[in-house]
Amino acid sequence: MSSLQDTQILSPDDDGLEKAATHLREGRLVAFPTETVYGLGANALNGRAVAEIFSAKGRPSFNPLIIHVADLDQAKQFGEFSEEALKLANAFWPGPLTLVVEKRKGCGLSDLVSAGLPTIAIRIPAHPLAQSLLRRVGVPIAAPSANPSGRISPTQAFHVSDALSGKIAAVVDGGQCTVGLESTIVDCSSDPILLRPGGIALETLSRVTAINSKPEVNRERPSAPGQLESHYAPSEDVVLGVTEALPDALLLGFNAAPGSTFDLSTSGDLSEAASNLFTMLHELDGKGLPIHVSPIPNTGLGKAINDRLRRAAAPRP
Ligand code: TXA
Ligand code: MG
Repeated sequence: MSSLQDTQILSPDDDGLEKAATHLREGRLVAFPTETVYGLGANALNGRAVAEIFSAKGRPSFNPLIIHVADLDQAKQFGEFSEEALKLANAFWPGPLTLVVEKRKGCGLSDLVSAGLPTIAIRIPAHPLAQSLLRRVGVPIAAPSANPSGRISPTQAFHVSDALSGKIAAVVDGGQCTVGLESTIVDCSSDPILLRPGGIALETLSRVTAINSKPEVNRERPSAPGQLESHYAPSEDVVLGVTEALPDALLLGFNAAPGSTFDLSTSGDLSEAASNLFTMLHELDGKGLPIHVSPIPNTGLGKAINDRLRRAAAPRP
């Protein structure tokens, strides 16, 4: 067994990014910020490096991963883009959107990345540090969210180092993620289908092309996080739709809920609420009290927020 030293916290500058790029090129794992959440990156061309992602996260099965690339030209080396996929890519990349497209034959990606599927999930993140890192490394980076399997996604570098220290080579510290929720996933391998609500609302994507939001998903595989009942789970119990603060619970409020410990957005702004969601769940967790959550309107980004909250509150396996 390779014994890692303590995980390095790398500064968000040339020196830090160069160290991160070297680790990745040499097959080690590096967590890095994107505008959605921190990703746990490995060189997607290196099967052993990709396998390390699953053991570091304690992921029970080889779910397919998203590859991150710097631009559309690089994306086209690995995926076959339909007309619909190109429309979405041109309108929303770089940004919090992942497209599932046909995998290009002989593209060199480790089979573990797509878990043997003929398709591949690709994303071009907008975060300047992610962009800079991807350009330096020059290879696609496979990256799930940088949290232990089933737990709350990380929106700060210390969330990653607290949970994965010693299991990964480094974390690039880019501060707080601005979007705060994972990317929206659209399968474009046939008529576009929403696989996971996320950082861009379906209403926004639908201005560019029609997207089916009621997927006939194969429940066996691939298993998008949205298909797992319990996910994003704090260690405390989570109760949803609570309209009143109670003495034996912490209230995660919305729209200035009276008595809340934290409020996702005092002005009722869903983007602000999305960006605060995981950060505030991390803050409220581990205090020995159940986490109660105010009702969130189920429109726009509210759908992605409610999706994550339902899974955080679901019975644990
Ligand atoms: O915002 C995000 O998407 C973050 C950042 C780091 O980019 N990443 C992220 O990755 O959320 P992850 O692994 O937690 O979720 C990606 C999901 C997988 O669980 C998988 O089900 C789905 O994407 N996926 C990957 N490849 C797929 C494929 N070929 N077909 C369908 N779904 C796929
Ligand atoms: Mg995840």
